Order: sequence, then C-alpha cells, then structure tokens
Amino acid sequence: MADLETHDFDVIVVGAGGAGLRAAIEAQAQGARTAVICKSLLGKAHTVMAEGGIAASMGNVWSEDNWQVHFRDTMRGGKMLNNWRMAQLHAQEAPDRVLELEEWGALFDRTKEGLISQRDFGGHRYARLAHVGDRTGLEMIRTLQQRAVSQGMAVFMECKVHKLILDEGRVAGALAYWRETGRFVLFRAKAVILATGGIGKAWQVTSNSWEYTGDGHSLALSTGADLIDMEFVQFHPTGMVWPPSVRGILVTESVRGDGGVLRNTDGKRFMFDYIPEVFAAETADSEAEADRWYEDHINNRRPPELLPRDEVARAINSEVKAGRGTEHGGVYLDIASRRSADFIRRRLPSMYHQFKELADVDITATPFEIGPTCHYVMGGVKVDADTAQSTIPGLYAAGEVAGGMHGSNRLGGNSLGDLLVFGRRAGLAAAEYAQGLGAAPQVADSEVDRLTAEALDPFNRTTGENPYSLQYELQDTMHKLVGIIRVRSELEEAIEKVGQLKERAKNVAVEGHRQFNPGWHLALDLESLLTVSEAVARCALLREESRGGHTRDDFPSTSGYWSKINNTIHRDSTGETTITQEPLPEMPDELKALFEEPAK
Ligand code: FUM
Repeated sequence: MADLETHDFDVIVVGAGGAGLRAAIEAQAQGARTAVICKSLLGKAHTVMAEGGIAASMGNVWSEDNWQVHFRDTMRGGKMLNNWRMAQLHAQEAPDRVLELEEWGALFDRTKEGLISQRDFGGHRYARLAHVGDRTGLEMIRTLQQRAVSQGMAVFMECKVHKLILDEGRVAGALAYWRETGRFVLFRAKAVILATGGIGKAWQVTSNSWEYTGDGHSLALSTGADLIDMEFVQFHPTGMVWPPSVRGILVTESVRGDGGVLRNTDGKRFMFDYIPEVFAAETADSEAEADRWYEDHINNRRPPELLPRDEVARAINSEVKAGRGTEHGGVYLDIASRRSADFIRRRLPSMYHQFKELADVDITATPFEIGPTCHYVMGGVKVDADTAQSTIPGLYAAGEVAGGMHGSNRLGGNSLGDLLVFGRRAGLAAAEYAQGLGAAPQVADSEVDRLTAEALDPFNRTTGENPYSLQYELQDTMHKLVGIIRVRSELEEAIEKVGQLKERAKNVAVEGHRQFNPGWHLALDLESLLTVSEAVARCALLREESRGGHTRDDFPSTSGYWSKINNTIHRDSTGETTITQEPLPEMPDELKALFEEPAK
C-alpha cells in the first residue's frame, strides 16, 4: 500500500465511449471531481461502429415524427420486453441531446432546407437518424472528447479497472493497473459509473474490437449488482466476410437505409420471402412496388431490407444454410445497381474506402459479400431508468453495459441516443449522490492487498493454461453453440464447456513481467469473458421461446409467459450465481394506448 499510486475523486467513469464521456461531462459540470478511466486510448470506442446515425424524432424529414412514434418503434423493435420508462425517456430526450451535440461542435449533414439531415434505418417508422455521412459515431466521440478535455477532465488512458471496492455495501473505489507498466493504481471514489460497452469478444465473428470483453458486466455482478436478460445478443446483419482478416468488421445499415438491397447467389432479392406477418400488411409484395414505395415514400412504407436487425440476420442465416450463400458464407449487398457512384461516395464514404482498401472491392460498381456479425448485447446491468443507478448504492451503468432500454432487440441508431440520454442521466445522478454522501467511504488496505495478489496470481505459475488458447476455445464454443439460432442440447453443451473453461482458467499462467504484457491482460480479461458467456448461455437455456436477439429452434414462437419476464442474474457473497424470473415493470395506461392506435 505504501507506494501505491492513489487518487481521490467524487465520481469515476469506467469507459470512454459515448456514454462514459457524456456521463463524465455531466458529473464534472455538476461540480463533482470526476475522472475517466479507459482500458484503451481516449476516443477508441465501439461508439464509432454506430456509423449510420443517432435516432431522434426531430421531424426534419418527416414532420409527422414525434417521441410517441419513436417510443412505439423502440418497444416494438424490442418485442415489448424493453423497460418502458427507459424507452420513453430515450425517445423524449434524444432530440435535445442531438442539438446539444451540435452546439458543442458536431457537424451534421443537412437537408436542402438547412436542417439536420435524417436517414432511414430498420424498424424506424420515419427517417430519423441524424447523421454525419457514415461516420456519425466518430463525430460524436470527437465532439464529446473535445468537450470533456476542454472542461479539464482527468483522463487515465490505457488503465484497466481490475475490481471495484465496496465499503459496507456502498461503492468506495476501484483498483486498476496501467497496461504499460503493470503498476497498480487505487481510485478512491464515492460513485462509479460503468460505461464499458459490450461483450462481443466472446464470439469469433464480431464487429467489436479487443476491448469488449464484458468488463463492466462482470465488475457489476462480482460487486453484487444484478444483470438482466443476457440472452439477448444482437447479430448485425451486415459484417464483412472476406478476406478472413476483416471478417466481422461492420458494414453500416446505412447502405440499406440509403437504398441497398440483399441478394442471394441466384441474384434474388430474398428478403421478400422473410416478411413476418406482422409487417406484411405494411410492406410491398414485389420488388418493383417496393422500389416505387421507397422512391416516393408513399405512405412511408418500408423496403423489407429495413426490417429490424434480428429478422434480417435470421433471413441471411437461412439463405446461407439453404445453399444460396456465397463461397465465404455470406450473401450480397447491392447498392451499385440502385444508386449512382456519386451518391454512394457522398453518402457512404467510409464504406467505399473500407471495401476498396480492405477487400479491393468497388461498392459503386458491384455487389459485395456480407454476413451477420456479433455487434451488441441488449442485456446488462439492471438500472433505475431515471438515475441509471444499479442495485448497489453508488454504482451506476450507462450505454451498452446497462440492460433494459432495448428489450430483446435494439433498433439501429438507438444506441447513440441511448449513450447520450443515459450517459447524461448517470452523470447527473452520480454527482448528486456523491455530493450528498458526506464523508467518503473507506477502502480497506487488506482488500487492496487481496485484489493485487489475485491479479498477480497468473505470474505464480510456470506451467499452466495459455490465455490465448482459452479465449480461442471460448469464442469457438459461443460461435458454434450460442449463435443466432439456439437449441437446448447445444446450450447445455455450451454451459458445460464454459464451466470447464472456468476451471481451467484458474490455472492460467503467463510468462515474463508486468510491463506491457498482453498475455497477462488477457488472462485477467478471461474472468469477464467467461462470466458473460456463462450468463448468456444460462439465460438462453431458461428462456423457452424465440424473441428478438434470442432464437430457439426448439421453441420458435414467442410465449405469453416470457413476454412479461426479465431473467435476472445475481451473484451472492459466496460466489454462487442464480437466475430468477422477475416481472417486467408495468407500462402506464397512457403509453399502452399508443399501441392501440392505428399505425400512422
Ligand atoms: O449499422 C450501423 O451503422 C450501426 C448502427 C448501430 O448499431 O446503431
């Protein structure tokens, strides 16, 4: 303890993507001494993979749009399993958050009238994604980062939070280490906001980069906070599939939002075969008719490529399984035959360059291969909708790490709004909590000693398991057994395999010393990867129905019972993890009435 680097803050924010930065900006603006701690470099966040835009009912393209329609779309997209209050706050507040970003310097694309331009995305009734070409997430991060730095925010980069520390059941701080030197850092803090993003690195094919190992989910669970609905994992329909080195990299939904269509190897626009009955009445039944609707926006009807992501990902999966996929296991996305090269380069500049540089394909000239990629987890830390507080006093969660907002399936574009709306709310509530707390909670020396010894344990073994092999086996298991389509026998097999991997991980060994040692970092990340994988597989086994980002081959329909249930995961002080079925919060009548109105 004597020579341990130690810092004192009111609020620490773990993660520097959109939610973390927005939370930190707010907490600092409320007068709380605030720090951002991020595992990676500032600005390198999965937020940049939300390329297409921020969903907000600003009504710039469709004056009919309003928060009620956005709320209804979000709930329907999530198959009604969303926390209704989060969906309501999100729909109501997203427009203000977009305007605030603009005030802080974000340069949005414009309509002819000079308003912020809004584009089409799946599941949204109206074109409502405020965007910056196909780099919206990047512009958002740039703007928030600039704002945070200009406020004088303390930033700890390449610093990984190993464990949270409690004092009498309340948050007291976190033990972290510098990735470069391997030295430990103690943060004493009255409140912690988790904004660590997702869990994609538990799968083989993912749009997530190396940072997304479920750290926040695992920190929350090990601290005694609850998680909900971890079975709901979103496979974005369009990731790159070829060459192998780029497999999984995101191909923005904007390609479809701007007119791109999906074709199988027979050249057939197959999405017409997969229109669920509930959408059929609103959707065209021939390609020509759909084109006309799309071009004219008559009645604002939607092309079938803009069905919610779960529907489109399943359809692609079925085409490939039926032998109508490409040799690399994908299908074709075709915008070249539908839009001019100029239009494509102007609206989708990043996609144009991405395919040109990484795959040597010109998307203005030819259809290109795509396939589903693990993109987002809807499940996460159980939070209070208004304050983003978890079930532990002083612990907050915002953005992808928080559960509830998106129900069983997130609509594209709703993540960037979520980050801003609930990042701000978390920052506000955490600052208020810290200011109202009086004396700071205590961090026991013995706890710090225990946690540092635990983190260094992999160095104590000269022989043992290799962390890279364990991660590879885990990704293989999740890819093959807990993917888009699930079935009891495979989920049981996955749970058993993950259990074996957990046992083997106790014997993980790393070589060398603590200075930049990626093997050691992965050895520590394995705990989170295994925790979230087990949670996903166990919840998926329990939920005997198909809904959103959870499809059971053996239970293909939705179930009345499960339509009102959150799987709730809790770990007690002995380390025992239980999953219980808790009723969803009841939606008030005035919001229920929105679902009875005829579609507008
Ligand atoms: O396709 C995309 O641009 C991704 C957006 C999102 O996940 O919200």
